[in-house]
Amino acid sequence: MEKIKKEEEKIEKRGRSMGLLLPLRILLVSLIVGAPRANAWGKEGHFMVCKIAEQYLTDKTLTAVSDLLPPVAEGDLASVCSWADQMRFRYRWASPLHYINTPGVCNFKYSRDCHNSKGEKDMCVAGAISNYTAQLQTYGDSSSGYNLTESLMFLAHFVGDIHQPLHVGFEDDEGGNTIIVHWYRRKSNLHHVWDVSMIETAMKDYYNDDLNTMLEAIQMNITSDKLNQWETCSEKLATCVNQYATESITLACDYAYKDVEQDSTLEDDYFFSRLPVVEERIAQGGVRLATILNEIFDGSSAEIELKLSRAARVGRARQILL
Ligand SMILES: *[C@@H]1O[C@H](CO)[C@@H](O)[C@H](O)[C@H]1NC(C)=O
Ligand SMILES: *[C@@H]1O[C@H](CO)[C@@H](O)[C@H](O)[C@H]1NC(C)=O
Ligand SMILES: *[C@@H]1O[C@H](CO)[C@@H](O)[C@H](O)[C@H]1NC(C)=O
Ligand SMILES: [Zn+2]
Repeated sequence: MEKIKKEEEKIEKRGRSMGLLLPLRILLVSLIVGAPRANAWGKEGHFMVCKIAEQYLTDKTLTAVSDLLPPVAEGDLASVCSWADQMRFRYRWASPLHYINTPGVCNFKYSRDCHNSKGEKDMCVAGAISNYTAQLQTYGDSSSGYNLTESLMFLAHFVGDIHQPLHVGFEDDEGGNTIIVHWYRRKSNLHHVWDVSMIETAMKDYYNDDLNTMLEAIQMNITSDKLNQWETCSEKLATCVNQYATESITLACDYAYKDVEQDSTLEDDYFFSRLPVVEERIAQGGVRLATILNEIFDGSSAEIELKLSRAARVGRARQILL
């Protein structure tokens, strides 16, 4: 009992560290940048993942997605991609679905790692992606019984989360939440640096403080080679999800945790060498979310490939123009 309570407190603490800053950040971001109603990755990370995904949805998928989105989304999936973070206090059971803890090792094993603090199987971000994908596959069955609007908002969010390297992190430090660092001169924690700070610093330093400019740069970088590689895993979702989690814990060890200790000051060296990882994971998350949604709502994979290669050609053309 004691142990479970402690675990729950830990989870709550993690939720808090990501949640409570949010209202303030929304205010600041909308005041300063006038950014889209994006949301907490961080709000910006999830927004970009979903915006990228939107580029690759087939017409049939887009129709289904628009049909399921809540009215407040006004037809834009990206505007509700952080809904799951906003719900973390109301839906406490869903809190463990945002991440995976490993027992301090740089690999992921579904049977060992995918559970909540009470040991309930599948209660982790990998299990959640499979869960909400399966629910969405009942779209069109009148007897579905699931709230597929929520299933869609959960899925779009969790595909983003599983690509944030520190959402597949060590149990002892709660995915970097308990590693206190200085991000340049500001006190933070390692998890927050990866959720939010690197994206914000990149926006400020390189993208004129404009989220859409950053988004465009990431999008234009998606070559057809990368597209083909990233979407290959579209056949068996369970295997794909394990692959995404494995990639994240590997990147967490090779980049996020590397050379970081309690009270480390992270600045240019860390930022310059890690930002490409952040940008690539956002792009990958977006492409894979599109692949999963197209599989769910428009099983004709031939058409999907066509759409993907068309998008890649457009991307290349834009690169050449620049
Ligand atoms: C699957 O979705 C249902 C409905 O939201 C939820 O109650 C359940 O906990 C979910 N399980 C996982 C592993 O995501
Ligand atoms: C489905 O979930 C959304 C978001 O939580 C909610 O606004 C809506 O009322 C729910 N629909 C039903 C039929 O319960
Ligand atoms: C584009 O890709 C290159 C090579 O993979 C990488 O170094 C760079 O950071 C990427 N830029 C963006 C904006 O994604
Ligand atoms: Zn999350």
